[in-house]
Amino acid sequence: MTSAPRATAVLTRAGRLTEPGLRTALDMLPAPLDRMANYHFGWCDAEGNTTDTGWGKGLRAGLTTAAAEACGAAPEAAAPMAVAIELLHNFSLVHDDVLDTDHIRRGRPTIWARWGVPAAICLGDALHAGGIQVLVRELPGDHAAAAVARLESVVVELSWGQYTDCAFDGRTAVKVSEYLAMTAGKTGALMGAACALGAASAEADPATVAAFDAFGSTLGLAFQVVDDLLGVWGDPTVTGKAAGNDLIARKWSYPVAAALESGTTAARELSRLYHSDTTITSAGAARIAALMSDAGIDRQARRFAAQQAETAIAALPDHVIADDLIALTELVVRRDR
Ligand code: IPE
Ligand code: MG
Ligand code: MG
Repeated sequence: MTSAPRATAVLTRAGRLTEPGLRTALDMLPAPLDRMANYHFGWCDAEGNTTDTGWGKGLRAGLTTAAAEACGAAPEAAAPMAVAIELLHNFSLVHDDVLDTDHIRRGRPTIWARWGVPAAICLGDALHAGGIQVLVRELPGDHAAAAVARLESVVVELSWGQYTDCAFDGRTAVKVSEYLAMTAGKTGALMGAACALGAASAEADPATVAAFDAFGSTLGLAFQVVDDLLGVWGDPTVTGKAAGNDLIARKWSYPVAAALESGTTAARELSRLYHSDTTITSAGAARIAALMSDAGIDRQARRFAAQQAETAIAALPDHVIADDLIALTELVVRRDR
């Protein structure tokens, strides 16, 4: 099987393995958090009528189940871990849309945009706790304790990353190295845990679990760089997110940090725009995107993501059967949504 169909097959299977656990966890939340949660996952509309608009790529669940299988376990063994990780991931998204004042995710109004910031904070917290409860309910005590300890330390890293991302706002310069440290926290840590917990659910030895953590966290850097470039150049009808929002909000994404370090005409113009207090309009964001394309930043960002993906794969131990993980890695680099 070539890489793209293989990745699709892995994600489809992971979706099948995790969806029942996710639905149970969401339905256990007290009303009206259960409805908001089901809305966020695309399983109902804001009034509670059943829909199925999709809950995202399920990439982390795919990584967890593929990591378990790569270490010789049945993917089913990793299902509770995958459910918990997707719940934590979605908690971070619900809060992230508040932090970023983003109105649209997965093509629909975000939780805070529909129900307000207090609702989004409370739902995010409930999804976080719901993820931990899945582990405590489904896993033997010692496995649950180890998984909870790992995931909660990831939440600390993620929170630092999100804080640091927000603290970049309004700065006149952010180095690519600073961006990467922030990204390792906000995105890399949870992806590392997704892979590490998959390996752990196959009873892999600590060195192998650590190698899977390194694989996932490096893959997380590639993922975020592609996320950032899709935020600038992606098609909103495909990404389900508004175009140019990061630029309008003057966020420090990989393309902006890399463009400013490039010393090109784009860098000078971008620097002028990012440092002025005039509002960046959609047309202004399109102009910045065009400037960055002229300077080759879109291609550079894709290349950088591909290099991170190669580094990630090199971290995998020789003895694991990595075909599915490699297919997911290629999907991360090539994706358009
Ligand atoms: C999301 O970062 C990272 C976390 C949710 C922790 P972004 O803000 O860059 O991601 P999107 O584009 O809104 O999904
Ligand atoms: Mg965001
Ligand atoms: Mg954000």
